Amino acid sequence: MCFNYDLVLIFGYNEPRLKFIFLLTDLSQILRNLNKTRIPTLSGDKWMSNAPVDTGRRRFLTAATAVVGGAGAAAVAVPFIKSWNPSAKAKAAGAPVEVNISKVEPGQLIRVEWRGKPVWVVRRTKEILDGLPAIDAQLRDPDSVEPQQPAYAQNTGRSIKAEYFIAVGLCTHLGCSPTYLPDTFGEQVEGVASGFFCPCHGSKFDMAGRVFQGVPAPLNLVIPPHQYIDDGTVIIGVDKGAA
Ligand code: FES
Repeated sequence: MCFNYDLVLIFGYNEPRLKFIFLLTDLSQILRNLNKTRIPTLSGDKWMSNAPVDTGRRRFLTAATAVVGGAGAAAVAVPFIKSWNPSAKAKAAGAPVEVNISKVEPGQLIRVEWRGKPVWVVRRTKEILDGLPAIDAQLRDPDSVEPQQPAYAQNTGRSIKAEYFIAVGLCTHLGCSPTYLPDTFGEQVEGVASGFFCPCHGSKFDMAGRVFQGVPAPLNLVIPPHQYIDDGTVIIGVDKGAA
């Protein structure tokens, strides 16, 4: 998908050769991912098999992918190489994003885009922070043992500054974007006032992005690398290891 996105930035959606590349790329990707589930992780999206190995089917998919990929390369190799000249915009597709958080109100969530994904910044209130430890027993990974965050965010609030929760807004089940419920999360989990609910298959996350037990999502939400350059500005996508 990143491959496609970069090419769009370079050529635009209406480039005929690009449409042909998309068709071939998407077809081969679909063939490869037929039996897999995408799980967002800190180190990148992972595809996990959810079906027993079928060697005959695997041989067919491998052969089909090779044929499709080979045909695509032969058809577009020369004109594509001629026009390959990454623009500054394409380079910026993976660049860090600077976010002004000085005007975020308590309880408010703002969204920014980083590497084509939604990233949330939520300003947590004292009540929210005080409530986090109380629900540990209902969570799948309350101590964030799974590496879904940088080391400096492996704490109760999964953050550098407790007041600000910063996370990739994609469910770790199949990648839908959960809904922020600042006041009505109690309808999903009794006694918990706020949290995130994924409408696709019902996964639930607390205000630190920790997944509740008994839902399809296997992991906590991803915390992206980030660092503060002053009290009102955070950069998503880079860090100093322990900024
Ligand atoms: S994608 Fe969120 S619960 Fe399935």
